[in-house]
Amino acid sequence: MNASAESTYKGIILAGGAGRRLLPLTHGVSKQLMPVYDKPMIHYPLSTLMLASIRDILVITTPRDQAAFETFLGDGSQWGISLSYAVQEEPKGIAQAFLIGESFIAETPVSLILGDNIFYAEGLADKLSVAAERTQGATIFGYYVTDPERYGVVSFDAAGKALDIVEKPTEPKSHYAVTGLYFYDKQVVDIAKSLRPSDRGELEITDVNRAYLEREQLAVEILGRGTAWLDTGTHDSLLDAAVFVRVIEKRQGLKIACPEEIAYRMGYITDRELEQLAADFGESGYARYLMAVLREER
Ligand code: DAU
Repeated sequence: MNASAESTYKGIILAGGAGRRLLPLTHGVSKQLMPVYDKPMIHYPLSTLMLASIRDILVITTPRDQAAFETFLGDGSQWGISLSYAVQEEPKGIAQAFLIGESFIAETPVSLILGDNIFYAEGLADKLSVAAERTQGATIFGYYVTDPERYGVVSFDAAGKALDIVEKPTEPKSHYAVTGLYFYDKQVVDIAKSLRPSDRGELEITDVNRAYLEREQLAVEILGRGTAWLDTGTHDSLLDAAVFVRVIEKRQGLKIACPEEIAYRMGYITDRELEQLAADFGESGYARYLMAVLREER
């Protein structure tokens, strides 16, 4: 990981929703603040945006949970980024993020990541940087899964060109799920404004992607089999994600999605600032980890 220029893209983390499948865990606490092994879930998508050199980020939450997110994440200055907050009154669809975030987006390109999506792969930062440098059109990511009917599904022609995208098809035309990470140029707000709610009453992100596809402005990047794209929507998948993170972190002694480390390695914060962050974590193992990162770099 190297210090890199700030992307022209802004970022949005969508962390609303009712989290019903995780009840009773989510009775009083947001799903995206649930622990995934050693850190809250939201640290994973936040780290993904940071790895794409995106430093100006809007976090959209439920009205109930906004204060808790602000307690966890603050204004981002501790990590050399800017975090602001907005609420989604009711979960009316993923594409509503662009209506809520319209003044934040302010005609710049924007990356949206779902607050429950975890990505882990060698070379992921490079792939994201390519998407975050594209000035026109949109980039989405396809990932081969056994159960495509649970997702937006993209199908391809024989030459590998994207043909169609369908939300939760009963008969999927491919095994490629569309992940919850999207990069859009400034057209996205107008596209979102033109959408009508789907049969399930939501402004569908799949309809946004289809609009770009129809304009022939949609790049579909495949995340290959060396990539982990993890689901955290059920009790089992939440535990599986935690076990995955634990296995990798124990084996390597390196943390997945540690915002302090990413900020430091990207050059967003100085040695002194990392040392101070470590001190703030007191006697914890997390503090020792941050100090080890600092010693190694020095
Ligand atoms: O994870 C990738 C999939 O995410 C895509 O393949 C699908 O095309 C896309 O529609 C979405 O499918 P899901 O069925 O997983 O979406 P879900 O309703 O579970 O929402 C995903 C996350 O976004 C969830 O953590 C809650 C949050 N959310 C969702 C909606 C609809 C909001 O914050 N607000 C909303 O209005």
